[in-house]
Amino acid sequence: MNPDDFEFFATFLRERSGISLDASKAYLVEARMLSLVEECGISSLSALVAKLRSGCDPILEDRVVGEMTTNETAFFRDTRPFDMLKDYMIPALLESRSAERRLQIWSAGCSTGQEPYCIAMMLKENFPALVDWTVNIIATDLSEAAIEQARKGSYSQLEVNRGLPREMLDKYFKKSGVRWQIAKDLAEMVEFRRLNLTEPITDMPPADIVFLRNVLIYFDLDMQRETLSRVRSVMNPGSYLVLGCAETTLNVDDCFERIEDLPRSGCYRLEKG
Ligand SMILES: C[S@@+](CC[C@H](N)C(=O)[O-])C[C@H]1O[C@@H](n2cnc3c(N)ncnc32)[C@H](O)[C@@H]1O
Repeated sequence: MNPDDFEFFATFLRERSGISLDASKAYLVEARMLSLVEECGISSLSALVAKLRSGCDPILEDRVVGEMTTNETAFFRDTRPFDMLKDYMIPALLESRSAERRLQIWSAGCSTGQEPYCIAMMLKENFPALVDWTVNIIATDLSEAAIEQARKGSYSQLEVNRGLPREMLDKYFKKSGVRWQIAKDLAEMVEFRRLNLTEPITDMPPADIVFLRNVLIYFDLDMQRETLSRVRSVMNPGSYLVLGCAETTLNVDDCFERIEDLPRSGCYRLEKG
């Protein structure tokens, strides 16, 4: 890809998704776009960029953004945030929200759904008292394909082998052909929606816990700031934010405080509105 096309492509991608590319990522763009070029019968990478420049093929534009997102995820990825949910965040919210008896959890950048389903399993396993509460888990992603798979709740053997304990598999999934289908009552606990974190967030109820893991890592600093500011606009005072282990709010957004008694957990509390 020539430098001019690469610059256009990087700007296009940042505007559409927040994902930031520097010149060292040209190989990644080429690797991901070449198969799309072939599949769509486009003659070359520069012809693909010319189509993007013309702005008259929204379906192709969505496909390009979809190909450039990294949907890597796993059940109980990194384990620690789920322990913190069980041992710290939910017990604290059971106290502080006891008058409303309402809990709103948002998994932002949920990819193919493993993260929100793990949150649901964790609540079901450990907090029977929540049956009397209104508990909503909303899970969102930019990628329509990822959200579609998440909604289906159907996973391959390889996917369930990654992080899902055998007893949880037996309890919450049913074998369906060569795949595993999530139980209906668990699936009903999660509402999936398409949502682009680079756009104003509308129609999202105020959250008590936001999982925003392994998304900001693909954004530059300005986009991380804008995104955190948008996300906190739909967070309740005193609510919790969980980031990926390579992400931080430090020097990015000073409205969040790292929870000192939870070192290396990626857990933050919203202190200011
Ligand atoms: C690496 S996955 C992380 C999945 C999960 N949170 C985890 O930690 O396992 C990153 C996800 O962020 C999504 N994403 C990237 N840019 C986004 C944006 N602007 N708005 C919403 N989701 C976005 C991608 O589609 C992808 O599914």
